Amino acid sequence: MAPSEPTPAARVPRHLAVIMDGNGRWAERRRRPRVIGHRAGARTVNVCIDFCLEHGIEALTLFAFSSENWGRPQDEVGALMKLFLNALEREVDELDRRGVRVRFIGERERFSDAIRAQMDAAETRTRGNSRLHLTVAASYGGRWDLAQAARSLAADVAAGTLRPEDIDEAALGARVALADLPAPDLFIRTGGDCRISNFLLWQLAYTELWFTDLLWPELDAATLRRAIDDYAGRERRFGLTGAQLAARPDETAA
Ligand code: IPE
Ligand code: IPE
Ligand code: MG
Repeated sequence: MAPSEPTPAARVPRHLAVIMDGNGRWAERRRRPRVIGHRAGARTVNVCIDFCLEHGIEALTLFAFSSENWGRPQDEVGALMKLFLNALEREVDELDRRGVRVRFIGERERFSDAIRAQMDAAETRTRGNSRLHLTVAASYGGRWDLAQAARSLAADVAAGTLRPEDIDEAALGARVALADLPAPDLFIRTGGDCRISNFLLWQLAYTELWFTDLLWPELDAATLRRAIDDYAGRERRFGLTGAQLAARPDETAA
């Protein structure tokens, strides 16, 4: 498909999941402190949100801070927390005005009271919006997510409200993060590394993966457009054969 032609609606991903990587290297290449890269990266978040709103993408999940990122030098973690708090204070009005519903996934208990209060306020404030479901994964790890889902099932078994034999993929899938959204259709990672880095381990089972060497602060709408055009041309087989899909007139067929 020529890049200038619009992507047919049925081929636009409903749910886009993004690892925003490369802020530190972007700054280091300019001989600036890493925090400058994080600041530049915060602006790119708006590029990505605008793109989703313009293209009718229903859900956007952004990996902002991983369980493992707590292990970075204290000054970098502190700077990231400050940036996060500022962004929450600054952006929520505009997101609300544009019909964006904001939610957070991850181990919220590890954040300061001030950040937790802002997260709660942003979620409450935007609860009624449905134009775009924006989920920010912060203090999130796919392994943490699976562990908390397992703990929640175990608690129900202990309480006598769930039988172990009733634990199946649907039961576990209902307790992991993003359970109320369709699974991500397309995953994008900037920064050149081709790995998942403990992002959505369960939810990405059949997600199409797309990587770019561009660093997160360099990402623009044209690159996002390349990613969704590439996605539109892929055949998602979900374990079946191409011939089976061709015979089935649903959204998984070409
Ligand atoms: C992503 O950029 C932001 C966070 C992980 C918080 P990095 O800080 O990982 O940037 P690089 O990968 O070191 O360049
Ligand atoms: C993944 O990036 C996490 C986020 C972007 C929030 P990392 O920079 O932490 O991942 P690794 O260390 O390169 O795997
Ligand atoms: Mg990184």
